[in-house]
This record gives sequence, structure tokens and C-alpha cells, in this order.
Amino acid sequence: MTQAFSLREMEREARQRLEPAVYDYIAGGADDEITLRANEAAFAHINLLPRVLRGAGPAKLQTAILGHHISLPILISPTAFHRLAHPEGECATARAAAAAGTVMIVSMASTVAIEEVAAASREAAGGESSLWFQIYLQPDLGFTESLMRRAEAAGCSALVITVDSPTFGRRNRDLQNGFSDLPAGMCCENLREPMNGDGRGKARQIVFSPELCWKNVEWLRKVTELSIVLKGIVHPEDAKLAIQHGADAVLISNHGGRQLDTVPATIDLLPAIVDAVGGKIPLLLDGGIRRGTDVVKALALGANAVAIGRPALWGLALAGEAGVTRVLEILRSELDRSLTLCGYSSVRELTPDLLQFRRLEETCTRG
Ligand code: FNR
Repeated sequence: MTQAFSLREMEREARQRLEPAVYDYIAGGADDEITLRANEAAFAHINLLPRVLRGAGPAKLQTAILGHHISLPILISPTAFHRLAHPEGECATARAAAAAGTVMIVSMASTVAIEEVAAASREAAGGESSLWFQIYLQPDLGFTESLMRRAEAAGCSALVITVDSPTFGRRNRDLQNGFSDLPAGMCCENLREPMNGDGRGKARQIVFSPELCWKNVEWLRKVTELSIVLKGIVHPEDAKLAIQHGADAVLISNHGGRQLDTVPATIDLLPAIVDAVGGKIPLLLDGGIRRGTDVVKALALGANAVAIGRPALWGLALAGEAGVTRVLEILRSELDRSLTLCGYSSVRELTPDLLQFRRLEETCTRG
């Protein structure tokens, strides 16, 4: 197990534990990794200006998102290949998320089949699973639909459609390490071709298609009643189009800096998207969330909840389910403490007047 008190320490410990190529696969970003670094750095450029003597009482961290009650406003973003980090893979992550009272977004590229992950989630939650399912829309719409039906049947309550991947980002660390295939005995279990009906055929390759367009989202809207979340929206105009095409929520994301490099940090994109959306649909954000104060900042700027990608994998690498639980508990306690220190009682009440933008201030004083 780990004695770490912060996500940073967990990353350091995970780095020692993981094979270097696997650590790099998780840690890396596209090209010069400018976006990757910006995601975290941007939070450090926002200061908190707390209020005092407000008698706020104990911090309330619970909220709801797309009808799902969560005990803290932090979800787990979809990441591929959890069995690279721990033999129990996505089942361990799902159990930790369910026990913590939050949602895990299962990647289409999971190394355990969605039905098994859902069973693990239900068992830990003592009832319904707390999973959403992420899909890269495949040009083979029949296959996309079959995946979606499996997610529905497994009890996932939302589909998260990743829209920032019309082609695959170029990750230098993976190229340098020659990291391209999963080790023997591991594959994307959701992508197996059916073989004599037992679902144990060879796994398909994921197709990243530049042909996909808004019509495909309309199609999806017609064929499923599940909530649809578009993941990877960064432009305010696309956020408006997402609403027009029937999305129930948007996850503002630059894929953790793994797709197009030099896209701004997600926290810097949030205010313009909040304005564009005008409260019509909930907004989620991921990228660089490493502290409870980061969560406070995102919520104060108008996100309804945030999500973490890499930190869950560090926890998984260190101690499986217990490690992911530890990650969520560290963030929960940091969020609880920072909310109280800011003088607020609930994560639903945070407003932008709590924030001070250092860059703007520096520019003003210099000018
Ligand atoms: C990802 N991400 C991702 N996104 C997605 O939609 N489907 C996927 O299968 C994956 N796989 C994946 C693997 C790994 C190793 C990483 C690090 C990321 C992106 C992920 O959902 C999320 O957007 C970022 O990880 C968020 O940034 P942080 O929290 O890692 O900084």
C-alpha cells in the first residue's frame, strides 16, 4: 500500500513501481507536451481569495450530475488499459469509484469487458452500477451501436462520446520506447469480434476517423435514450453546437494533452464555454486536477464537476482498488478542507469572486 499524502507523491511512487514504458505511456502527451504541462500550470496561476467569519459550517461535497447523485464532484475520466497498471484492471477502479460514491467513465479501450466491470461496480455499490461508458464513434455504425447496446444492458447511465480524436495524437515517449501493442494476454475486451456467439474472437482495432461529424451525434441521439456527454469540446461554438445536436452535457477536455498539442489548458477555456452554454447543460472538466483547490477553482468558474485521468492510474498501479480509493480520499479531504478555508459550505455555491487571476494582475502591475 502507499503512505502518500498527495497525488504528486503517489505519482512518484507509481513511477518507481511501473515499467518505464508503461509509466511514460500514462504520463506522456502529444508532441512537445505543451498542453500537458499547461493543464496543471494554469491552476497554479489562479489564486484563491477566501472569505472569513461566514459561519459556513461543515463542508457539503455532494452534488448531482445527469440525475446521478455523487458524494463528491470528482468523476473518473476514461483511460485505456487499466490492466497495464494492475491485474484487476478496470474492475478495481470501478469498485473504488462505486465505494466512494462517484462515477467511473469506462473507456471503450478497457482491458476488462464492460459487463464484468459493471458487475464489480454493482457489487461495490450494493445495487446499481455507477458507470458511464466512453465511445470513440466508429465509422462502422453497426459495431458502434452494438457497443452502445452492451453499455446500456450493463447498466451504464450515460454515453461519453470522445470527439477530439479524428486521428491519433503523436506521443513521442511511446515512439521512443517502441510502446505500441498490449502485452500478450491483454486486449481491448470490448472490441472482440464475436466467435461462435461466445464473444471471444480477436479484438478489433479502434478507428480514429476524420469523417465523423455532427450528423453522427444526431444519429446517436435518435438511437439511444441514455444521456449523451460530448468529451473533448474546447471551443465555445462547439459547446453551442453540442446543445443544438442534443448533447446532455459537455466534458471540456484536451485529452490530458495527448491529442492536439498547444491547445490551451482546460481551466483557461472554461469561462468562455460557461458563457456560451448559459447554464443550459451541465459542464464537466478534466485535465490537470491534482489538488482539492483545483476542484474549487473549476467549480467556482462554473464547472458542475471535474474528472481525473492519470491520478486514478497511479493509485491503481500502487495498490489496485485500495490505491484508487486513496486517490479519491486524498482529493475528498483536500476539497473538504479548502472549501471550509474559503468560507463556503457547499460545492454548489462556489462563485468566481473567490478567484484572483495572477497573470492578469501581473500584466496590470507590469503595464
Ligand atoms: C486517456 N484519455 C482517454 N480519453 C478517452 O476518451 N478515452 C480513452 O481511452 C483514453 N485513454 C487514456 C489513457 C491514458 C493513459 C491517459 C493518461 C488518458 C484521456 C482522459 O480521459 C482524460 O481526458 C485525461 O487523462 C485528463 O487529464 P489528467 O487528469 O490525466 O491530467
